[in-house]
Amino acid sequence: MSNKAILEFNGKKYEFPVYTGSENEVAMDISVLRSVTEGLITLDVGYKNTGSCSSKITFLDGEKGILRHRGYAIEDLTKKACFLEVAFLIIFGELPTKEEFEKFKVDIKKNSMVNEEMKDIVEGFPKSTHPMGMLSSLTSALTAFNPGVVNVNSKEDMYNAVTKILGKFPVLATWAHRRNNGLPLNYSDNSLDYISNIMQLMFKIPTEQYVINPIAIKALDELLILHEDHEQNCSTSTVRMVGSSGAGLFASVSAGVSALWGHLHGGANQAVLEMLEEIQKDGGDVEKFINRAKDKDDPFRLMGFGHRVYKNFDPRARIIKKAADDLFADLNLTDPVLKIAKHLEEVALKDPYFAERKLYPNVDFYSGIIYRALGIPVAMFTVMFAVGRLPGWIAQWKEMRENGEPIGRPRQLYIGEPLRPFKEFKER
Ligand code: CMC
Repeated sequence: MSNKAILEFNGKKYEFPVYTGSENEVAMDISVLRSVTEGLITLDVGYKNTGSCSSKITFLDGEKGILRHRGYAIEDLTKKACFLEVAFLIIFGELPTKEEFEKFKVDIKKNSMVNEEMKDIVEGFPKSTHPMGMLSSLTSALTAFNPGVVNVNSKEDMYNAVTKILGKFPVLATWAHRRNNGLPLNYSDNSLDYISNIMQLMFKIPTEQYVINPIAIKALDELLILHEDHEQNCSTSTVRMVGSSGAGLFASVSAGVSALWGHLHGGANQAVLEMLEEIQKDGGDVEKFINRAKDKDDPFRLMGFGHRVYKNFDPRARIIKKAADDLFADLNLTDPVLKIAKHLEEVALKDPYFAERKLYPNVDFYSGIIYRALGIPVAMFTVMFAVGRLPGWIAQWKEMRENGEPIGRPRQLYIGEPLRPFKEFKER
């Protein structure tokens, strides 16, 4: 394969280096394009063809449906490791040794208290606040209570920032739920593992002992592993972009939470369940909704279907579908919505509209059904996605800062008015 690309513009030829990644992906380096051509830029709205960085964290092949973190297959990670082990791998580059892992868990637990004054901020939100809005604000507010600057060249400083946010973020995430439901804001239980602690943080009530269900914990652990990182998606690119200005980890993650909230990104898991419930209420006519999704005059889209990068089955959706089946069998549950989801998938996959556009179920299609089976309310679905994605955001922020990447600042093609004389009020 050639290691250069040639561009002809205005009668002149320009050569640009082409780099090959470790999985044979190729990228043309256009960093000097504008200066050598005296003004030419690329236009790629939505960044469909633009690589914003080189990264060692996650490999994704959308055509083949492959997802790997630091070289390890997602299928192996979900089966053989737990959430925090994968977090360590993603953030620090290697699976932890036993000693490293024990220390990591202890250090996260040591950071699982948040300043009591944060509770005043939580109490200030109206009870109608969406938990994602609250989570984004509270994550940003952590900056006020932890004002120190992280020296990105110090391994110790980085490690402390990582364990700090991993310890505090689940507390803030679950406080959003507790505030909205009139429950007292509670504390982490450091005798529990990370995932069990999230469940007790969300659901424990002061008058009763919270009983951990190991089947539920295993299902949630697997589900959150599947969300840990997904290379340069919208929220991760946001975290890297915000961090590139020099903003700290809490502020950058807070921006990532906001980006994740939208229904085309993480908010899709909430939208999927609302859609499935709507289909159920409407009598279960799946074809009617598929026809609506195909109708270009109807803004409705089949939520949980399609992906910018996957033009094949999202490998995460495959694992989640099986996890949902296993969970329902293990807990002896039934949910009519799961039946509707499977029927919808079957009909959509046979439909030429979806086949031609390579639209397959994505990670959000079945995840909400699992959350629902675990008793997690719909408004908290995207928050759970954020808790799962946190290690990825941290790893990408850390990589970007350690690489010393420049500030992210795209160009634009201006198509507005040219210079014109100012109009006084009487002339407008
Ligand atoms: N239902 C119906 N049509 C769709 C859908 C869908 N879910 N997704 C894409 N299309 C059509 C779209 O109308 C377009 O058709 P045409 O070529 O005739 O104009 C074609 O497929 C290509 O779509 P696109 O919008 O150009 O593709 P994109 O890469 O810009 O968008 C997407 C990707 C995920 C935003 C989109 O597929 C979508 O809106 N899906 C539903 C929302 C969703 O499930 N989001 C979760 C994504 S995965 C997890 C995550 O990122 O958080």
